[in-house]
Amino acid sequence: MKNRIVKIALYGLLGFLVIAQLFRIDKTNPPVNAGEDYLSVVEVPAEVSQLLKTACYDCHSNETAYPWYTNVAPVSWWIKDHIVDGRKHLNFSVWETYEAKRKAHKMEECYEMVEEQEMPMPSYTWMHGDAALNKEQRALLIDWFKKQEMAFKE
Ligand code: HEC
Repeated sequence: MKNRIVKIALYGLLGFLVIAQLFRIDKTNPPVNAGEDYLSVVEVPAEVSQLLKTACYDCHSNETAYPWYTNVAPVSWWIKDHIVDGRKHLNFSVWETYEAKRKAHKMEECYEMVEEQEMPMPSYTWMHGDAALNKEQRALLIDWFKKQEMAFKE
């Protein structure tokens, strides 16, 4: 009896996983207008620019790279959710469409997130070792975001 239940549960799970693969995520990146992109419009130090590209741009821009495991449901759905949600909160690709007040506020949120080590998301750095920030990198970003907050406040 118990064996039968385990068997049915396993077949059920397998069936779900097979069918789940039919629901693929949309990986088309919205177009990027260089005139609106943060890294194109703002003069950002090379080191900071590099960090933003590797640690934030996959979820906070329209330049998302999709590794092989984004082909595997249901993990792919979960990742896609983060990208959609991440862009909604902050999209560096449309930076120039933000008003100055919003820009300053986003920069403030950015250093808070990095300070509290909430960003980049731990589940992301788990798969992207190069995006894990060390103390110096965090300090560099925080310092930059703080300066930017002041600049946009003026
Ligand atoms: C794996 C995807 C992912 C990466 C990488 C990532 N973020 Fe996020 N980010 C999100 C998601 C999802 C949200 C919205 C939900 C939340 O606030 O947790 C978010 C929210 C934010 C917010 C808005 C918080 C608010 O209160 O509205 C800021 C600011 C932010 N992230 C900054 C960053 C910075 C800076 C980096 C890089 C150092 C980064 N994020 C990397 C997914 C990501």
